[in-house]
Amino acid sequence: MEKIIDENKQGDPLVLKQKEGNTKKLFIESYGCAMNFSDSEIVASILQNEGFNTTKNLEDADLVLVNTCSIRDKAEQTVRKRLEKYNAVKRTNPKMKVGVLGCMAERLKSKFLEEEKIVDLVVGPDAYKDLPNLLAEVEDGRDAINVVLSKDETYGDISPVRINTNGVTALVSITRGCDNMCTFCVVPFTRGRERSRDPQSIIEEVNDLWNKGYKEITLLGQNVDSYLWYGGGLKKDFVKATEMQKATAVDFAKLLSICAETQPKMRIRFSTSNPQDMSLDVIKTMAKYDNICNHIHLPVQSGSNRILKAMNRLHTREEYFQLIDNIREIIPNCAISQDIIAGFPTETEEDHKDTLSLLEYVKYNFGYMFTYSERPGTLAERKLEDDVPEATKSRRLSEIIALQLEHSELRTKGYLGTTVEILIERASKKSSEHWSGRSAQNIVAVFPKENYNIGDFVNVKVTDCTKATLIGEAIGLSKSN
Ligand code: 5AD
Ligand code: SF4
Repeated sequence: MEKIIDENKQGDPLVLKQKEGNTKKLFIESYGCAMNFSDSEIVASILQNEGFNTTKNLEDADLVLVNTCSIRDKAEQTVRKRLEKYNAVKRTNPKMKVGVLGCMAERLKSKFLEEEKIVDLVVGPDAYKDLPNLLAEVEDGRDAINVVLSKDETYGDISPVRINTNGVTALVSITRGCDNMCTFCVVPFTRGRERSRDPQSIIEEVNDLWNKGYKEITLLGQNVDSYLWYGGGLKKDFVKATEMQKATAVDFAKLLSICAETQPKMRIRFSTSNPQDMSLDVIKTMAKYDNICNHIHLPVQSGSNRILKAMNRLHTREEYFQLIDNIREIIPNCAISQDIIAGFPTETEEDHKDTLSLLEYVKYNFGYMFTYSERPGTLAERKLEDDVPEATKSRRLSEIIALQLEHSELRTKGYLGTTVEILIERASKKSSEHWSGRSAQNIVAVFPKENYNIGDFVNVKVTDCTKATLIGEAIGLSKSN
């Protein structure tokens, strides 16, 4: 399951390096998880070969694509609102075509064409290579749709065109789909079964990024710890692999060490980890390599064993604590973050208190917290009544957020007086005189620019902080440069 970047804000339109001779204009924006943002780079790359350059200007576009998220109802409503906006623009530019990509396309399929008259094109997450054919149909005046899910599509052979925002950090997708079947989650239905990408193509992409000046990559997957390459195919079919394939298979710990050794100066992050699949090997690999960042996004969803079971999370509260203890022992300065859902069906005050006490035990650095949103077609929707009143869900969520904020502040204050290594990513949003970057633990720091540049690794002495941001001053370039 993927970390959501921000489903409420308009998904930044991609603006890519323009290809000479291309005359058509593509406006593409993304909502939802990092995987969607990464996929949009693949889509833009495919369409660059079809004569499209990207534009930031919706009004100029020949083709508008929106990469959508279905994780919660609110995410879908955001996309519906955007379609209204496109509709208004289409009145002034009737030739403009509109396509829907991603999880909502997969979930709603042809219903999209019926419900939203403005939509000409519906393409699921595994069908982007079919875009040239689908666009030809649209040009001929027909609506076009491809929502076929694939056993082996990983887009490993497509070199994504990068968003030129900072030129320092990039997303590299390593697995697609999810086999976990958490009962609340729509992802297995929208993104299909789990498959892993050829490590060779991952390494080529990482090398290429390094050569282009990138300093940090995030290996992406719905469940990265489940990564397993044995020559291609679905994860669930590994049992049928030959002895040779089994002997030479590459798991996530191995992939991490290959990446870390191939580019020893590249910072390496990964997201997202499912507790049931995170191995001791992965934790030890993180400890072994300096360039693998000490941060683990480890969604727990609930602190109650009864609710974890109803969610089909395949670990208990006690096993989760054991994992946290192992991480703390093997990587003492590791930041840990969470996802939590408040108000899953049948959740009682007792269950909710278990979640609060789990928070107390772990004291996460930060987290992403949501009220439960029933998703059509999921096991929870089919088997359980969405019986926690909205007001109760919201109150429990507020309590969870308040406690998390206390812990975030506590953790952030823990860095006061220390020196942290920061990779400079951009100017601070609040002051053009300051740089903003992140520590290995994924904590944002701001400090005066002096003569440093974007892409520099600097040692920053932390002198002050807000609840979630470190404030300090650079005391020199770090050895990572
Ligand atoms: N309702 C609320 N939150 C959800 N998430 C996933 N599905 C739902 C849902 N139906 C949350 C989980 C997941 C994160 C990406 O989104 O916490 O880890
Ligand atoms: Fe990403 Fe799709 Fe999940 Fe949304 S529903 S978080 S877009 S995988």
